[in-house]
Amino acid sequence: MTTTTPTSTSQYDAIGSKYNLFKALPTSAIEVVSLEAALTPYIRGEKRREGSNGAGGFRVLDLACGTGYYSRKLVQEWGASYVLGIDLSTEMVQVARQQHKHQDERKEVTNGRVGEQEFHKLGQTAAAPPKIEFRVGNAMTLGKVVVDGDNKEEGTRGFDMVVGAWLLNYAASLQELTAMFSTVATNLRLSSDGGGVFVGVTPPVVSAGEFDAYAARSNLHWGNSESNRNNAAAQYGVSVHYYEKLESGEGWRTEVTMSGAGEATRGPERNGEEQKLKGVSFRNYHLTKDVYEQAARDGGMRGLLEWRKVEEPLPEAVVAATGEEFWKEYSRAGAHLSVLVVERGD
Ligand SMILES: C[S@@+](CC[C@H](N)C(=O)[O-])C[C@H]1O[C@@H](n2cnc3c(N)ncnc32)[C@H](O)[C@@H]1O
Repeated sequence: MTTTTPTSTSQYDAIGSKYNLFKALPTSAIEVVSLEAALTPYIRGEKRREGSNGAGGFRVLDLACGTGYYSRKLVQEWGASYVLGIDLSTEMVQVARQQHKHQDERKEVTNGRVGEQEFHKLGQTAAAPPKIEFRVGNAMTLGKVVVDGDNKEEGTRGFDMVVGAWLLNYAASLQELTAMFSTVATNLRLSSDGGGVFVGVTPPVVSAGEFDAYAARSNLHWGNSESNRNNAAAQYGVSVHYYEKLESGEGWRTEVTMSGAGEATRGPERNGEEQKLKGVSFRNYHLTKDVYEQAARDGGMRGLLEWRKVEEPLPEAVVAATGEEFWKEYSRAGAHLSVLVVERGD
């Protein structure tokens, strides 16, 4: 039987602002820390990035930005000068704009690392384009983005970084994944230092030969929390179900559901969120390691390609909030993500 996966846009139009509640889950702390560790060395210029942080500052394209959680973090905490967030879902983009406006009004725009002063130092004055913008667009067909603003040249010089946090898992095949990487490559700047860089959060990296066993094992630990109250899904309040293998052999169809029943959604500051989250689910794809890597190359990414797995012990910042005991089941089940870094190359 073939199950039709609804288009991403309709899935997320229905989810809207509820999506933010995912980020309140303790498992999201692992995602944030892993992404930050992979991308901030580039923003800080610790990774040879001749040309970046020059005139115009460090510019990031946040593909599949959702409600703009990382778009805001990039500018407010991680040192980017400008972020353009793009998402397929009109509803998600609307929420992203509202939240940005809301934060702007509350004057919580910077934490001082790249504050107004430094922003101006980079040559961007009151007439400069806003630091965060959001647009609706499809990462598979986007083409080269032109940023509105005073200086058309600046708009087309390319981005220093493309972030794709949970973007690539919406590609159903090598072909769709290649289309996404082609968009990434087209929008990254080219230069003699290796050009811009893509940093993405993906499902855990798994080789083709291990995939079926991985899917079965993952279903045991992360699958249907209603039937197994002792597994990771029950503990952390989110299940991941590998429900159908792709006919192409390139990977599996997956469904992520908030059970809202786990330890993760209890606790004083999460009261009330449990019900809102319960039953929220979306479908996507988990493709094999070689499909990801081939798509990156076929899409035009020619530089360094590195997978960053979540390593044990878990980062101090993650463990500190909840205590080590809380993460025992997570370690047994295996991490729910990897981070993929691919440089544009010459
Ligand atoms: C799981 S959310 C991640 C949002 C955000 N990056 C984050 O981590 O908070 C996935 C997002 O991908 C978007 N999406 C799916 N397919 C897309 C595509 N082809 N182009 C752009 N966005 C897409 C969805 O609309 C949704 O907002």
